[in-house]
Amino acid sequence: MDNMFRLMGSEEFSDRRRCIWVNGPVIIGAGPSGLATAACLHEQGVPFVVLERADCIASLWQRRTYDRIKLHLPKNVCQLPKMPFPENYPEYPTKRQFIDYLESYANRFDISPQFNECVQSARYDEVSGLWRIKTTTTSSIAGSEMEYICRWLVVATGENAERVVPEIDGLTTKFEGEVIHSCEYKSGEKYRGKSVLVVGCGNSGMEVSLDLANHNANPSMVVRSSVHVLPREIFGKATFEISMMLMKWLPLWLVDKLLLILAWLILGNLTKYGVKRPNMGPMELKVVTGKTPVLDIGAIEKIKSGDVDVVPGIKRFYRNHVEFVDGQRLNLDAVVLATGYRSNVPSWLQENDLFSKNGFPKSAFPNAWKGKSGLYAAGFTRKGLAGASADAVDIAQDIGNVWREDSKIHKMRSRVVYRRCISLA
Ligand SMILES: Cc1cc2nc3c(=O)[nH]c(=O)nc-3n(C[C@H](O)[C@H](O)[C@H](O)COP(=O)(O)OP(=O)(O)OC[C@H]3O[C@@H](n4cnc5c(N)ncnc54)[C@H](O)[C@@H]3O)c2cc1C
Ligand SMILES: NC(=O)c1ccc[n+]([C@@H]2O[C@H](COP(=O)([O-])OP(=O)(O)OC[C@H]3O[C@@H](n4cnc5c(N)ncnc54)[C@H](OP(=O)(O)O)[C@@H]3O)[C@@H](O)[C@H]2O)c1
Repeated sequence: MDNMFRLMGSEEFSDRRRCIWVNGPVIIGAGPSGLATAACLHEQGVPFVVLERADCIASLWQRRTYDRIKLHLPKNVCQLPKMPFPENYPEYPTKRQFIDYLESYANRFDISPQFNECVQSARYDEVSGLWRIKTTTTSSIAGSEMEYICRWLVVATGENAERVVPEIDGLTTKFEGEVIHSCEYKSGEKYRGKSVLVVGCGNSGMEVSLDLANHNANPSMVVRSSVHVLPREIFGKATFEISMMLMKWLPLWLVDKLLLILAWLILGNLTKYGVKRPNMGPMELKVVTGKTPVLDIGAIEKIKSGDVDVVPGIKRFYRNHVEFVDGQRLNLDAVVLATGYRSNVPSWLQENDLFSKNGFPKSAFPNAWKGKSGLYAAGFTRKGLAGASADAVDIAQDIGNVWREDSKIHKMRSRVVYRRCISLA
């Protein structure tokens, strides 16, 4: 808290809300994007404050991911700026390794977030030219309120801040089995021998289904529309890297054609198992809609062997079973909603220039990181950790430039004042 100047007792605030002036930017979110931005600011000599609603850094990874998860992109594209992964890490670090890396990262760059501070609103005050950020404390002294005032605001609350829970007929009113979101799923251990419906076939749906099958549960996975599944690696090289390399030289449609031929050679024709491909190619779909292709790490094998059943869209739930749109019925013990996530920015940021109503910046990469009046966005380019790192570097450089200019002016002013004092003495 060295870099804070407290304006306690300001008349404008209720007794319960304290007001804090932050000398430097406020970063909202202590996930990889917030940490990367903080580290780059630290390197620029700019002080900052990080506000985090959870009680730890990288809460998505520590609290909202299942045990078996690994990074699904190779480590060289997932490491944050200025500190590579340890050399002994495998190509795809485990959840524990990634969290350990982030803990060391925070230590190395002296990042100590204000934990249990949930941002309720942030608005730019035109008169003072400053951002006003209101938070509530989520710890044991719950209910206390703070207001942070600063010149720069970095939004790093993530593309996956809130779970998406669809309304499905009978799910909450009739079904009596357990219903969880994939962010609450830890392991298939407790589902051994049970019939589990996994709703959704993105990376989460596929990996939860695989984990359930590995624990001898009976998973059925809902594929209501279509999905691109690519092998995680092609001839020993990461599919992600192959795609990026091809995209440098070839038009998108040709990259897509090549990827689909390779996927067909490795995974075979998935349509006969109920997994249809979208009409648009995987890379074009990613560029146009942001929808990520699934990188297969074994679920397709389980689908082919019948250990994971593919089922169509859901019509409604009953007390202990589900009915699908084709009239089929299935008895169930539990449901895992692998139905994705959304950004929460519109619920608290009072601004409509940088961010659109869906909580993502209006402009696409590489122009999505900077707004007006000192507002920045880190980690909203749907480019995973590599995109977050690129944003962090740009943001810190931009703020650092202004910070250094201001410091020079400040020093010059101090010198003038000092000389005047000397001459008066
Ligand atoms: C299951 C899963 C696996 C993934 N695997 C990969 C992968 O292998 N490779 C990859 O590149 N990407 C992956 N991603 C994408 C993921 O978005 C990034 O890995 C990374 O977590 C993004 O970092 P972030 O800091 O932008 O967001 P987050 O990690 O979500 O961090 C945002 C932080 O902001 C905090 N926050 C949110 N709202 C508020 C508020 N109002 N006030 C205060 N704090 C708030 C949250 O608590 C959170 O700690 C995965 C995503 C998921 C869901
Ligand atoms: N190992 C890893 O690194 C890893 C693991 C998991 C997730 N992730 C990442 O995390 C992010 C989120 O992935 P995600 O899989 O959780 O979410 P997602 O990609 O958004 O997928 C959501 C899925 O839920 C389906 N769905 C939504 N509502 C439905 C309904 N009412 N009925 C049936 N299906 C419904 C969607 O189908 P439609 O397509 O038809 O809408 C889609 O298949 C992605 O960026 C992903 O890459 C990474």
